[in-house]
Amino acid sequence: MKKDIQIGYDYFKNSSELNDIENTLFARAKQARENAYAPYSNFLVGCSVLLENGEIFSGNNQENAAFPSGLCAERTTLFWVAANFPNEKIKKIFIVGGPREFHEKNPPIPPCGACRQSLIEYETKQNENIDLYFSSMNDVVVKVNSIKDLLPFYFDATFL
Ligand code: THU
Repeated sequence: MKKDIQIGYDYFKNSSELNDIENTLFARAKQARENAYAPYSNFLVGCSVLLENGEIFSGNNQENAAFPSGLCAERTTLFWVAANFPNEKIKKIFIVGGPREFHEKNPPIPPCGACRQSLIEYETKQNENIDLYFSSMNDVVVKVNSIKDLLPFYFDATFL
């Protein structure tokens, strides 16, 4: 028997198609990207998180001379938020990434596999979907309504 998995996503040609809160999150992620510590890859990523209480927090990728010791922007931000607001639901996450040098053709940067797994943990914990947006610096934005859309057959605590 063959089965299919389909995911839907929103595609925004540029930020004029975003609403106010989405534009704020985009701006905060871009701002955070400026402070990324990425001297080895020169690939800068910023991330902003909207909590249910309306607060927005942001972070960026942090690299290390011992390469695997660095961490992506998504997990840097997510773990800080989870550590400081363990009971506050995460509503939206916005990711902006790309090489230090801007190129018009840079595509939107989706979260890596390890970040998807970490994001799924919190979506499952709060029992409510998280809207995830990802973009490049060229203003194209992609949105999915759940982290699960990016990680079908995800592993979570129900298997333990
Ligand atoms: N990076 C992120 O911060 N998020 C992603 O989802 C993809 C990759 C970072 C890790 C590393 O510092 C640099 O981008 C190049 O991989």
